[in-house]
Amino acid sequence: MKKLVFETLSSTQTYVKENYNKVLDIFVIAKKQTDGRGRLGRYWISNEDNLMFSFIVNCKNLLIENYPLLTLLTGLAVRNTLSTITHNDNFLIKWPNDILYNGMKVCGIIAEGLYKEDGNYVVIGIGINVNQTSFDKAISNTATSLKEITRVDYNKDTILDVFENNFKKLLKELENNDKNFIREINSKYNYLKQRLVDINNDEYKGKSFECIRINPNGNLVLSKGNNREFEINSNEVTLHKN
Ligand code: BTN
Repeated sequence: MKKLVFETLSSTQTYVKENYNKVLDIFVIAKKQTDGRGRLGRYWISNEDNLMFSFIVNCKNLLIENYPLLTLLTGLAVRNTLSTITHNDNFLIKWPNDILYNGMKVCGIIAEGLYKEDGNYVVIGIGINVNQTSFDKAISNTATSLKEITRVDYNKDTILDVFENNFKKLLKELENNDKNFIREINSKYNYLKQRLVDINNDEYKGKSFECIRINPNGNLVLSKGNNREFEINSNEVTLHKN
């Protein structure tokens, strides 16, 4: 895929959404973002040491019910990429959209639907902490980078190329309605598995639940005790602190 690199953009995500028909098969990359966006209205603060990019997925070959799986699919593609690049298998997916190493965030993913007259698209935005070695105080206890983990400097183009291959392979599977990748996440890379989480909404406030697995529809399955389970979609969950 071609790469379009900007010195500065407000947000690659916003750029792609506003110019979607001009960037259909392009990675839009920014060295700096002045208004980088995370999920749930948060900011994404990053810098030139890192990788920030967005791209469009054309959903013409995907079942509508599979659109929500694109975040997790992207997560697995990134996770596998980081693992290959660093020769380290300990990158895990924190449902629904973070990649963690030793409990520290190394990548965030956002996926937003774009429904146009000519078809349905999903805009995927990825921020990977690559060569950054000092972090804002606010996140220094929760964020890390590939360089912090391995003390090695990484080439961002190589990361993108490996990602592209991984992503395309997984997307093809999902286009065939093959959701085996969810099983793969559950068996090896589900950070939340067997951990207690709090759910931040009115219905469940003040209670914590053990995570069991991710369902083939992308929902997180939690235990209510006594072998009773329930599932949530992308409500925000936080790890329960004892
Ligand atoms: C999250 O962790 O909440 C998701 C963060 C996504 C950040 C990336 S950086 C490139 C792209 N442009 C944005 O404004 N956001 C995404």
